[in-house]
Amino acid sequence: MDHAVLHSLTARRSGALSGRVRVPGDKSISLRSLIFGALAVGETRITGLLEGEDALDTARCVAALGARVERTGAGAWRIQGVGVGGLAEPKGPLDFGNSGTGCRLMMGAVAGCPIVATFDGDASLRKRPMRRILDPLERMGARTLEIAEGGRLPVRLKGATDPIPIEYEAPVPSAQLKSAVLLAGLAAPGATTVIEKEATRDHTEKLLKHFGATIQTAPHGRHGRRITLTGQPELVAAPVAVPADPSSAAFPLAAALIVPGSEIVLDGVMLNPLRAGLFTTLREMGASIEMLERRNEGGEDVADLRARASALRGVDVPAERAPTMIDEYPILAVAAAFAEGTTRMRGLKELRVKESDRLAATADLLRVNGVAVEIEGDDLIVHGCGRPPGGGRVVTHMDHRIAMSALVLGAASDQPVQVDDAAFIATSFPGFVELMRGLGAELS
Ligand code: S3P
Repeated sequence: MDHAVLHSLTARRSGALSGRVRVPGDKSISLRSLIFGALAVGETRITGLLEGEDALDTARCVAALGARVERTGAGAWRIQGVGVGGLAEPKGPLDFGNSGTGCRLMMGAVAGCPIVATFDGDASLRKRPMRRILDPLERMGARTLEIAEGGRLPVRLKGATDPIPIEYEAPVPSAQLKSAVLLAGLAAPGATTVIEKEATRDHTEKLLKHFGATIQTAPHGRHGRRITLTGQPELVAAPVAVPADPSSAAFPLAAALIVPGSEIVLDGVMLNPLRAGLFTTLREMGASIEMLERRNEGGEDVADLRARASALRGVDVPAERAPTMIDEYPILAVAAAFAEGTTRMRGLKELRVKESDRLAATADLLRVNGVAVEIEGDDLIVHGCGRPPGGGRVVTHMDHRIAMSALVLGAASDQPVQVDDAAFIATSFPGFVELMRGLGAELS
């Protein structure tokens, strides 16, 4: 993305929000469908694909690795896959832009092929840790030929000629890490096992099964899972219908809760239990969120969510819930600022290595808008004040979710809220500004 020009944007206190909208396709499933489509034999047809920068960058990288990628209509894409182990050596560096998920999952796929590829990304992605992914991939036979200081991008990776299946206990709760190991395991003979102490989003497991892989999942401890993949399957192309992204739905939903008099409906939002922690938490805070027309779409539970403006109260959010709402803390913190009482969000260590140091960025976003907030260890504590003063200018640090959270705050605070750069919203939620305006939000 061209970052030479900053696109500042201001949200002003809005009248009641109303309307019925559908947010774009789920980012996690969109990126996986592109990558897994490349590893399958035959043509994968995707509908409802997120056409945000992260997905477009990932699609370009998939094509650079030899798959044929074609857009046939709005959200409709076709991938002609090359089969497990069949990725071709790319001619130039793979630029994943802002997309940590695209980059890390593809590292796993490349680790299982006898090719050399250079992985790179924008200034935000170049700050994020890659050693956590490369360590297990090296155990599986891949070699890191070059890596920037501190275990960062750019990384030159040589895939394994004879990948080795491993049993891997993940040191951090990360679906990206789990997925990278499983994708490398596709090319290895025998069983590759990932053990996670806390279950993380299971889209890789579900989609790989959908493409014909054998994966067994068993409980591990109180909150964890043990996931075993049988290597060297023939992945067969299969259609993927991408449901609406709950992490994107979170923004208009929270806006409707805090702008007085609002009532909106969000169509077809995915309710995978490993993604739905925000909805549980907001309901505990007193939010009126109804799940209408619950149904199954593309192998996931979805529902139309009706949200009404609500009087919220502070709650204690347990650390075990973090993996099920890891991307939702900035917007939860904004909702908490409008609540009566204190909200304590526990165990947010992983937020420090997102598109920005999201723990610090979230605290700063609230602080500059007059909200009392503290960070204690890995906990974020927000002292709700009914309606925050606002009036701040928020530094977004190339982080889409910080930008959207700040703009939602400004739709209901006393004074306008400005973000320094709204451009990165396009990584995950193209059309955010238009969608919010359509509901009645004042953004300019
Ligand atoms: C994702 C996993 C999460 C999440 C990211 C998407 C995925 O990252 O923050 O937005 O699709 O696997 P971690 O695996 O680093 O927790």
